[in-house]
Formats: sequence, C-alpha cells, structure tokens
Amino acid sequence: MAASLDVNGKAMSVEADPDTPLLWVLRDELGLTGTKFGCGLAQCGACTVHVNGDPVRSCVTPIAALSGAKITTIEGLGGAHPLQQAWVRLDVPQCGYCQSGQIMSAAALLEANKKPTDDDIDAAMGGNICRCGAYQRIRAAIKDAASSAAAPVVAAPPAAKPAAEADIDEAISAASGATSRVQRGEVR
Ligand code: FES
Ligand code: FES
Repeated sequence: MAASLDVNGKAMSVEADPDTPLLWVLRDELGLTGTKFGCGLAQCGACTVHVNGDPVRSCVTPIAALSGAKITTIEGLGGAHPLQQAWVRLDVPQCGYCQSGQIMSAAALLEANKKPTDDDIDAAMGGNICRCGAYQRIRAAIKDAASSAAAPVVAAPPAAKPAAEADIDEAISAASGATSRVQRGEVR
C-alpha cells in the first residue's frame, strides 16, 4: 500500500502497510540506515528520530500515525550540526551503534533548551542506552555544543589585500631612495 511521508524536508512515496514501524520504512524502503534497530520495544533509543521536532522511537511508531508529520532523521541534521561537530571534537563514540539516537535526542533537547543543566540532560537522555558507557562524553558534548552554539560569532577582520608587485617596489623605493623597477620601466 502506498503512503506519503515527509522525511528530511522531502515528500517520499513508500510501499508499506500502514502498521509498518517507521524504522523499517526508513531503513529498508528509503535507505536511511543511520537510524538503528536496538530493542524494537521503545526501550533503548537507538531508533530515535524527530517527528515534528519531538524525539520519537521509530521502532514502535507506525507510519499510519505520520500523515502530514515532518520526520527528521540523523541524515537530516546534515553532518555539520553543532552536536555533530561537538561529537567529533570530543571523540564521543566508542562502537557508535547508539550514537545517532543519542544525537537525535540531544538535538531535540537543545531545540527546546539552549542551556541545559546536568539534570536537564539526564532527564532528556535517560531513555538512550549506551552499552559502551560513553555517557560522560555524551553529556560533555551536549554542553560543548550548547556553549559553541551560544557563542557570539566574531567577524574575522578583512584579509589584507595583497600588494601588487609594483606597489611593493614603489614602497621599497620610497623607503630607500632607490630607483624602482617600475620607474626603470622593468615592470610592464
Ligand atoms: S530500537 Fe527503538 S527504542 Fe530500541
Ligand atoms: S557507543 Fe557503543 S553503544 Fe554507545
């Protein structure tokens, strides 16, 4: 049966029964394999995606419930999201399996709360299990992303315009009193 889903800003037509969990449509029909299967029971968070901005366990969400909803997967964050940059900076993943779900839960948290406390992070991330125990780095990366996103953007000073050879020659000439190559007609 055909269904239409809005995934990462694109309308997607899929062939699946209405009770098919979103996770399998993402992975098997649309090839978006960044979203992982862990428990299949809404217990681990590996399959977390956003539905209208909220973190949702895609393993237990039938596509019938998603008509008109905006679905965002880890691929939809684009790779340069502040959290993804912080994840790289702090070398967060160990095996990596849980990490897309972790990042999607963290992204929903930062959307709602730009400066989360440790308690806020624990409350938002408590349903995302990491068998490798990378919890301290995950928390640090969320804080790092929150502070880097909040940091004022300081405009870089304009780059000095490179002086033309003739300008340099003139300056040397003026400083030294010597006759420049320009004045001697050596630069055309
Ligand atoms: S696979 Fe969905 S919560 Fe574990
Ligand atoms: S990094 Fe291995 S399960 Fe989280």
